[in-house]
Amino acid sequence: EARLGVLGSGTGTNFVAIAEACAAGRIPARVALVLSDVPDAGILARARERGIPARYIPPGPFRTKLDEAAERAYVSALQEAGVQWVVLAGFMRVLKSVFLRAFEGRIVNIHPSLLPSFPGLAAWRQAWEYGVKVTGCTVHFVDAGVDSGPIIGQQAVPVHDDDTPETLLQRIHQAEYELYPRCLAALVRGELEVQGRRVLWRRPAKEPPGH
Ligand code: GAR
Repeated sequence: EARLGVLGSGTGTNFVAIAEACAAGRIPARVALVLSDVPDAGILARARERGIPARYIPPGPFRTKLDEAAERAYVSALQEAGVQWVVLAGFMRVLKSVFLRAFEGRIVNIHPSLLPSFPGLAAWRQAWEYGVKVTGCTVHFVDAGVDSGPIIGQQAVPVHDDDTPETLLQRIHQAEYELYPRCLAALVRGELEVQGRRVLWRRPAKEPPGH
């Protein structure tokens, strides 16, 4: 059975959707470890409630990345837990070379916009302020850039005239809870083929997200 390691800085609702999909057999994997850079992050409590090991690992002095010692500590913890796939679920720091090398091609992220539109922080608010009529969420492999790796799947979400950034975010979240488990299931089943920037779904029987 594949082992996932989930990293998050926030509430952990995507983690919950993933853990439930694993428990229901919709993702043939289990979450072996949850790590956070925020000591009182909701994601840690939500993991412990489910009996999943969860640890805060201090990020070091920087605001937007882990320092090298911290990256080594994250990598060691994940390796000791036997993790094959690293799943970023609201982890608000960029990963650098120590981490990327240790899990090359095995790190995925979810981002609350249709990339390459609106990378970076508060993407749903960026989309709302820009005035787009359609936004959504994107699951992608993580590379050295910010929200720039090959795209695995996307789900579109309409923007309504009476939306606030908050109501829009709620709709994007609902899409995330469907998209992320579907992409992870394909990933751990070995159904994804990466050809440069293009990620191909090798089992066309199931409709790939975004089609
Ligand atoms: C999610 O909406 C995710 O797309 C976003 O953080 C939220 C985490 O919520 N990620 C990013 O913005 C990454 N830059 P959750 O903790 O409730 O899953």
